[in-house]
Amino acid sequence: MKRSLSGIKPTGKLTLGNYIGALKNFPKFQEEYENFIFVADLHALTLPIDPDYLKNNTRDLVALYLACGLDPNKTTIFLQSDVSEHSELNSILQNYLYMGELSRMTQFKDKSKKLNQNAIGLGLFAYPVLMCADILLYNADVVPVGEDQKQHVELCRNLVHRFNTRYNKEIFVMPEPIVPQVGARIMSLSDPTKKMSKSDEKGDIFLLENLKSIEKKIMRATTDLGSDIKYDKENKPGISNLLMIYASLKDISVEEAEEHFKDCHRYGDFKKEVASVVIDTISKIQNKYNGIISSNLVDEVLKEGAKKAKAVASITLKNVQKTVGIYGK
Ligand code: AMP
Ligand code: TRP
Repeated sequence: MKRSLSGIKPTGKLTLGNYIGALKNFPKFQEEYENFIFVADLHALTLPIDPDYLKNNTRDLVALYLACGLDPNKTTIFLQSDVSEHSELNSILQNYLYMGELSRMTQFKDKSKKLNQNAIGLGLFAYPVLMCADILLYNADVVPVGEDQKQHVELCRNLVHRFNTRYNKEIFVMPEPIVPQVGARIMSLSDPTKKMSKSDEKGDIFLLENLKSIEKKIMRATTDLGSDIKYDKENKPGISNLLMIYASLKDISVEEAEEHFKDCHRYGDFKKEVASVVIDTISKIQNKYNGIISSNLVDEVLKEGAKKAKAVASITLKNVQKTVGIYGK
């Protein structure tokens, strides 16, 4: 059976962008693949974060994984930090990625630009190395991610080629990024030219947000001149973003969504319908989340997940250690 692997950093409140670009698709893979989904808690340390906040957010993220349909009997759900092989493989792989290619990563450029230039953490720079370790430990064939993570998976592909060529052996499996056709990049509701990210209160919709507040944000979302509901990213970024959200949550194409709204010429009516689909989706997730977070399920799932993940990761690590010449392996 082919393997699928993905993860999310527990760095902020999960958004509708995270859901549509990543989370919503994770359960689909558990039917056809051997599925590994983890919490990238070591990656969360690449920018300063409050320890209590990180702990709570980690638990919340696992509860949300389960609330969004991941089944622990079909998917191995675990914490990156529970499987020490991630850090061990990271320290080997860092020698096979180059500073030049790491410095060209868009995410590094964006994030480091906002920091004091004398205080850019090494971990932020080396972020994609750890991400390669995450993917390669499980020999993942596919990696479902949103658009912004595609570049990191491409880098991982270069590494696989480099490593396998160097040792003249198929040590690592070549991973394929899988980016959703609809909704790989959901934009901010207040500024639809910017990505919806975890740090923009006005433009974000959070999965654990009050439903009234979600409705308000959608009704107030920045739109464009005109009255047609058409997908046109250049001239109608706001309407296009809402159409994308609608299409993704309804599991239809953007063309089908346009067709659905072809007789609607009032943005207010359009937004009401988008809001109703978003609220329907999110309220179901919240109901499940509330049940899970008040139980012991998260801890039970993580304990079992760590065992299963470690069993796979330790075999890969040993094979790599042996390949590069670590004595006694
Ligand atoms: P992060 O929040 O950076 O940990 O991202 C977790 C996952 O959500 C990754 O697969 C991202 O590509 C995806 N993601 C984050 N923001 C968005 C967005 N605005 N639209 C679509 N996917 C997103
Ligand atoms: N970098 C990803 C993000 O910010 C999270 C992540 C870490 C990841 N390791 C991964 C995603 C491996 C897929 C595969 O969203």
